[in-house]
Formats: sequence, C-alpha cells, structure tokens
Amino acid sequence: IHVLFASAEIAPWVKTGGLGDVAAALPPALAQAGCKVRVLVPRYPAMAEAFPNAREFVRIPGLAVRLPESRVLDAGEIAPGVTLWLLDCPSRFERAGNPYVDSDGKEWHDNVWRFGLLSRIASWLAENGKDTGWPVDVLHCNDWHTALAPAYQHYLGGDTPSVVTVHNLAFHGQFPESAIGDLGLPRRGFRFDGIEFHGKLSFLKAGLQLCDRITTVSPTYAAEIQTTDYGCGLDGLLRYRKARLQGILNGIDENQWNPATDPLIEACYDADSLDKKAANTVALRRELGLDPGTSPLLGVVSRMGHQKGSDLLVEEGDALVAMGAQVVVLGSGEKPLEAAFEAFATRHPGRVSVTVGYNERLAHRIEAGADIFLMPSRFEPCGLNQMYSLRYGTPPIVRRTGGLADTVVDATAETLKDGSATGFAFDYASGEALLACVRRALDLHRDPLHWRQLQRAGMQRHFGWELAARQYLALYESLLPAAR
Ligand code: ADP
Ligand code: GLC
Repeated sequence: IHVLFASAEIAPWVKTGGLGDVAAALPPALAQAGCKVRVLVPRYPAMAEAFPNAREFVRIPGLAVRLPESRVLDAGEIAPGVTLWLLDCPSRFERAGNPYVDSDGKEWHDNVWRFGLLSRIASWLAENGKDTGWPVDVLHCNDWHTALAPAYQHYLGGDTPSVVTVHNLAFHGQFPESAIGDLGLPRRGFRFDGIEFHGKLSFLKAGLQLCDRITTVSPTYAAEIQTTDYGCGLDGLLRYRKARLQGILNGIDENQWNPATDPLIEACYDADSLDKKAANTVALRRELGLDPGTSPLLGVVSRMGHQKGSDLLVEEGDALVAMGAQVVVLGSGEKPLEAAFEAFATRHPGRVSVTVGYNERLAHRIEAGADIFLMPSRFEPCGLNQMYSLRYGTPPIVRRTGGLADTVVDATAETLKDGSATGFAFDYASGEALLACVRRALDLHRDPLHWRQLQRAGMQRHFGWELAARQYLALYESLLPAAR
C-alpha cells in the first residue's frame, strides 16, 4: 500500500510537540508493516538545511489565487521504505522560527495560505499519482494543517481514500469565509455539512466532515471527543460519524527513549539494575543546583498551558514543597505561566528548579533522574511523556483522561496485588485532587518493595509502534477498492 503521510512537522528537524514525534516514528513502523510511505512536510529553513541535496520530484503550477507555483522535492529515504518529500514554496515557508507563530508568539498572518497550500498539494499528489509516477493508495492527514486536503478531494473530484488523525482537537485552523475563493475551493462548500463552522472556514471541521476515516491517538480520547466537555464544538459531528472514528494509541520511539542505552543520561540502567537510577538523581540535583539529600524529586516536562494543567502545578507548588518534595520543571508556553513557574523556583532555592525553554537533553535527564513524573493534563489526546517516564522507572502521576487513562494503571490495593499498577491517576482537574494523589504516591514511595514493583511493572510495558502500525494498516486496507 502506498501511503502519503502529510504533516506540518517532523522530528527532529521541526517539532513543537508530539505531532513531530509521531510523524517521525509512525511512517517507519508502517513501512515495516509493509507499506511504502512518502512523508510530505513543508520545506522550512531547517528542512532545507538538513536536506541540501533534495532534488525536484515534481513542479506544480499555481492552483489558486493564493496558492502559487510550488515544487515537491525528494529528499531521499529517511528510514527503510520511507521517503521524505519537501513542499518547496519560499514565499510561504522560507522563514525562520516556529512553523506556526512568529517571534512574538502570534500566528503567522498567512497561515491560511501556508497550510491551505500544504493541504492542496497533498490532495494534488494523491490525485496525480499516475503522472508523477508515485500512485497514492491512501492519503493520511494529521491535525488541521493538512485537514483541508479531503475537502479539496471532495469538491475538486478526487477519489483517493483519506484518513484524518486528530492529535489535538483544540486547534481548528479557523479563518474568514472570504478565504474560500482564493484557496481554490467552491463557495458551495460553505455549509454545515462542508467546510463551514459557526460562520467561519474551519480546516479541521472540513477534514473531519469529508474524510473517509477519522482516527485519534488513544481510545479514551476517541470516546471523550464525542462529549460536549471534550468535543470543542465538534462533538456533534464526531457522534454523527462515530462509525468512522477510531482511537489508535500512539507508540514511542523505544530506541531513543531507552534508559539502558540513553547517551544523554548520567548512568544507564534497566529493570534489573534500578539501583543505578540514583546516580541520575544525584547528577540532576547537582546540575540544577538542588539540595542533595533524599527528598522525593518530582519531575515535569511539558508545554505550559491550560491543556497540561500547568496552572494546577503552579497553584499547588508551595504545597508540594511543604510535603517534603523537590520539584524540577522543564517547559515553555504561555508567558504568564512561565513567569509563575519562575517565581515558584525563586521562592524555594535549593528545592525547586525551573528551566523555561526547550531542551532535549534535560528532558531525558529529568525522565531518568526524577522519582515521580507529574502530568495533570485537563485533556490529553495521547501524551508521550508519561510513556517515557514509565520506561525510565519514574512512575507518573496523571489525570485520568485520554491517553493518560489508557497507558497508566493507578496503584490501588488490587492493582498492587496483581502486579499491574504502574503509576497514579486522579479524576478531578483540581489542585486538591492533584495533591491527594501526590500524597498517595509519596506514601507508596516510602515503601521500597512496592515502589520497586511499580517501577518494574512500568518498565516492562511495551510501547513500541508495531501495534499501532498494524491497526493503521488494517484501516488502510479496509479503504482500498478491493475491500469497499
Ligand atoms: P504535546 O504534543 O501535547 O505537547 P506530548 O506528550 O505528546 O504532548 O509530546 C510532547 C513532546 O515534546 C515530547 O516528546 C516531549 O518530550 C517534548 N517536550 C515538550 N516540552 C519540552 C521541553 N521543554 N523540552 C524538551 N522536550 C519537550
Ligand atoms: C498532540 C497531543 C498529545 C499527543 C500528540 C501526538 O500534541 O496534545 O497528547 O501525544 O499530539 O499525537
């Protein structure tokens, strides 16, 4: 099966969150499962730099007023069976910095044309495979940035089966109705069962409405987004299409996140040599200027925002310290939250360390060095960090939602007894509930035998991509003409 996988980011070159990780790791797993994959991403400067020898694969004329001429470059195989295609359109993508926002954190003013182009070219490549020499069997789009592609297919007459994967329902890609014509879409599409959403053009709504299959990145999130609490206004549509909606749990890159071989951490270890984990804790404390000692060290690696429950951590930070814990935080995001975290660290020298920014190395060292990982998300489509922490023998405390609910088994008398417990989960998105859960975790942490058991159980779970790849493959197969 030939799969065109379209994404706005791909790790390690361009990544703002889990989408980049998935775009890097899922295609190779699909290829292992027998697919041939082309990954289409914009040729941002970072991509141009990483692949200077990419050569022209096809030149595509301007397709609408705001969709200028572009080229697709073939950057070669990035993994067995996976070739990277770069969408080259300098006026749209040749600018430094974040793919979505400018240096002030404001959306690029022309995102509608930038991701309109990405979507349009994805659909063009799917429909012109005979001419380009790479026929596409399935078009796989990810999040709003590429979700307009099924709308192009629908209104311009394409018939390649399409899948839209929701990594985060909160981002819709909404623009004024007036953009429609200049994007090369017909005005008749602007209706409730088309590309319209509350009087605006919505990329995500368009994709969810017009694609053949919808997936999201965990089974629990697939159920949650059909409710008004989690549906971001799209729950009605998702309920309507629920027979075509499925949750497929993300995997993690088990090579990159492996405490037995991780070159970024102080001392490598595995489930049978957990004693060596302590050297990572000592090193992390030293590196960040935290007091030496035996207080439990709570770790956080996260974007800072409402989704992640960062405000709950800020609110209860002093209480965590009062309970005897040390806290280490790495993250960036909303400016007021960044400032609040920094103030928290200033109040507790030697007990709390906050690093604002993006730092791959420190992320690994926190996963390895912390005793407990904190992830109190209000919603979490999948979440990767809790899986990393399970692998690193750093039991996570999570809110029971989305992928967190699907990957962490709360420690109760029962789950401790049957050996399935891997972490701690709480239900209400409140500071109180978070604190109560931390208290439970700290109690168990004082019980070395049970704690070891908890750590080992998490480390022995498999979170590779093979299972997900098999599920996507089955989904693709169900869409092929032979199966329809
Ligand atoms: P989301 O995509 O919603 O941000 P995920 O848990 O799916 O959440 O993925 C986040 C990814 O970004 C993980 O790979 C995580 O390690 C990484 N990450 C987030 N913040 C930072 C940071 N400040 N420094 C390094 N890595 C980070
Ligand atoms: C989004 C979600 C996160 C998920 C990631 C990859 O960024 O917020 O929960 O893990 O996409 O699918």
